[in-house]
Amino acid sequence: MGFDNVLITGAGGFLGSHLTERLLKKGHRVIAVDNFCTGLKSNRPYLESLPEAQDRLFFVEADVTAPWEPWLKNLPDFVLKKVSHVLHFASPASPPLYQEMALETMWVNSIGTNRAMEFADGVGARVVFASTSEIYGDPDITPQPESYWGNVNTVGIRSCYDEAKRFGESLIFTHNLKKNTRHGFVRIFNTYGPRMNPSDGRVVINLLVQALDGKPLTIFGEGKQTRSFCYVDDLCAGIELYAQSELTEPVNIGNDREFTILELAQIVQRMFPEKKLDIRFMEMPKDDPRQRRPDLTKAKKHLQGWAPRIALEDGLVHMRRWLESQARA
Ligand SMILES: NC(=O)c1ccc[n+]([C@@H]2O[C@H](COP(=O)([O-])OP(=O)(O)OC[C@H]3O[C@@H](n4cnc5c(N)ncnc54)[C@H](O)[C@@H]3O)[C@@H](O)[C@H]2O)c1
Repeated sequence: MGFDNVLITGAGGFLGSHLTERLLKKGHRVIAVDNFCTGLKSNRPYLESLPEAQDRLFFVEADVTAPWEPWLKNLPDFVLKKVSHVLHFASPASPPLYQEMALETMWVNSIGTNRAMEFADGVGARVVFASTSEIYGDPDITPQPESYWGNVNTVGIRSCYDEAKRFGESLIFTHNLKKNTRHGFVRIFNTYGPRMNPSDGRVVINLLVQALDGKPLTIFGEGKQTRSFCYVDDLCAGIELYAQSELTEPVNIGNDREFTILELAQIVQRMFPEKKLDIRFMEMPKDDPRQRRPDLTKAKKHLQGWAPRIALEDGLVHMRRWLESQARA
């Protein structure tokens, strides 16, 4: 199913802003919705300044858990009628922020997902919901295939996010079953790149900001926990292919090269040899997953041979350059 006009929730955030830019550059109209509770405020003027945005970007500042009618009625009919996809990406995503906004996180992935599907059903569009590798919790197997049901603590500090995403998946599955629709969801593994909020607390941006400030690099525990890091352009390419497919089942999208957090900190150390950065070990937070690595077999099979291409070392250089340009601006 090819793209026509696209409505993106969370379009002012990290992933949403990249998806918005990518689709504008491919000639589509984008309705971009965000309440900026976590997204970087400068992402809106950045997107609006793109030559491709003139007459084709419709930016709405709104909370997607509230009724959509008050802002939908201000959008031109010719734009609304031709919405082919709703990419529902609104949600706090970093552990410190989703724990601070725990209830809002639960509502945006449940009520927000329901509102996205109600709107989409009205115009005949397909929803793609941004789910997460966190639905696997602290996994007992690695790499994690989509068939793994996960190991999640329902009453832990991460459950507001993990369980909200699990509920979002279940809501889409049940909605498809009962209403004969074809909405889908992707399970996104740790993704990094320019336009992340520098204060959002996720590990890659944290380490780079600390390095640029010449501060010690802080990691949890002994840094033996593993993660795999996907550069944002690779992720957006996978999401685009999933959205255009007819798939309704989950597909993992990420990068399957696995690093310990200590190895990541050492790569960052080597990027800034002149700063002689120390690594500081902090107390391990509760329920932190020990390992994270996607099984990408399904993505490679169903998404036209898609595979991540950008090496961590190269992606980190792009991100460093962006952070330095922000400091100069
Ligand atoms: N980046 C990753 O590594 C990753 C991994 C797994 C899943 N995801 C999912 O992808 C999506 C985007 O994540 P991100 O990394 O871009 O995070 P982000 O915080 O940069 O972007 C999320 C955006 O959603 C907006 N938002 C939140 N609640 C809202 C609401 N009620 N109404 C309107 N806007 C709202 C925020 O202001 C923000 O701009 C999230 O759903 C997240 O759970 C991201």
